[in-house]
Amino acid sequence: MTATADPQEFFALFGAERRPDPYPHYRRWRERLPVAALTEGMFAVSGLAEATQVLRDPAFGHPEPEYLDPADRLPDQPVDESGRVVRAFLSLNPPDHTRLRRLVAKAFTPRMVDQLAPRIEEIAAELIDRAPAEFDVMTALAKPLPVEVIAELLGVPLDDRERFAEWSHAMARALDPPFLQHPDTVGPAVRARQSFVGYFRELAERRRREPGEDLLSALVAVSDAGDVLSEGELLVTLTLLLIAGHETTTNLIGNGVLALSRHPDGLKPLGVDGEHAAQVVEEVLRYDSPAQLTSRTALRDTAVGAVTVPAGSQVIVLIGAANRDPATGPAPESFDPARAPGRHLAFGQGIHFCLGAPLARLEGRIAFRELARRRPRLTPAGTPQWNPTTTLRGLSALPVVNGG
Ligand code: HEM
Repeated sequence: MTATADPQEFFALFGAERRPDPYPHYRRWRERLPVAALTEGMFAVSGLAEATQVLRDPAFGHPEPEYLDPADRLPDQPVDESGRVVRAFLSLNPPDHTRLRRLVAKAFTPRMVDQLAPRIEEIAAELIDRAPAEFDVMTALAKPLPVEVIAELLGVPLDDRERFAEWSHAMARALDPPFLQHPDTVGPAVRARQSFVGYFRELAERRRREPGEDLLSALVAVSDAGDVLSEGELLVTLTLLLIAGHETTTNLIGNGVLALSRHPDGLKPLGVDGEHAAQVVEEVLRYDSPAQLTSRTALRDTAVGAVTVPAGSQVIVLIGAANRDPATGPAPESFDPARAPGRHLAFGQGIHFCLGAPLARLEGRIAFRELARRRPRLTPAGTPQWNPTTTLRGLSALPVVNGG
């Protein structure tokens, strides 16, 4: 078996016409090429074992942050004292990653997430009750809920939340790798990032003077053995939390409602009172992953399966394909909400495992549970519309009706 593949064939996996159901194409690709050499310096992994190795193996990481000439800097772009771009810890290697993740985890605690539960329930219930019998799940629930929650978590004043949601959407649309990116998304994303950083610089200043109970105040004050977040680190961390935590959660809710509404038993697998919601969340994450791709750089020559990946190569990790690998459990291509939670890579693996997973799971559970309670007979009422993005897989519209 050769591991060399036609890159055009790989890019075609993400073509617009395949968007409603890319999975049969992923399956054929993964069966043939769990590790593929696409070009010199670009590889793709789609098998569960291979993808897990790339995510866990310290031989794979991220390129070092670049030095930026002051003339090339964007307004408001955080740089450190030696002129290196300040990056969020998602794209840093140890020891920088370890240090920053530890600081942020000290502020963003499981307790803080648990305390949000009653408020999330309240927001979800209000949003669902406000919707008419026939409604679009994305507009009514999946889009507003995570923005409200992250704004609440960070302590964003109510009046600013609409602007905040717009910036977040613009940044999330530009997350695709360059070979998949639509040129129209780049400019708005850069502008949104600048507005966001400028806004949070001011809000952080206010919280420094008058701390509240929110995560922003906790991040401003956090210290670990005398170490603190610099202003640049604080600002890129806030941007990361927003980008990583917003549209991914929207897509967990949307992709989940779509899968349930197409299931012969509808929302029944959630249980009368939504008591099986946690299990359903895991199956949605596996079956139709909100984050489909991530990538790493080989830091040294490393074997993945039968293929040697040379140092400096980029490796694209196809999370969506790996999550349908037969090694995840029986009948991997079907959505089975009663399946015992198995292995999946929806939150990544290893040192970069999603820091917001407890919050995402909580929001997913509450959204599905409140729907099961309030709209138990939900069925499709039109054709779902997919977003044109690949890294974040999700819907722009999902019409449903209660009582179909
Ligand atoms: C990392 C997925 C929600 C914050 C990640 C990674 C994935 C992921 C795949 C690892 C990326 C990699 O290794 O390259 C998801 C999904 C979510 C979700 C599918 C929702 C269903 C959230 C939320 C937050 C969050 C709600 C916070 C508010 C983060 C952070 C990281 C991360 C900070 C970086 C961790 C690190 O580099 O150490 N997420 N995420 N995520 N996620 Fe999430």
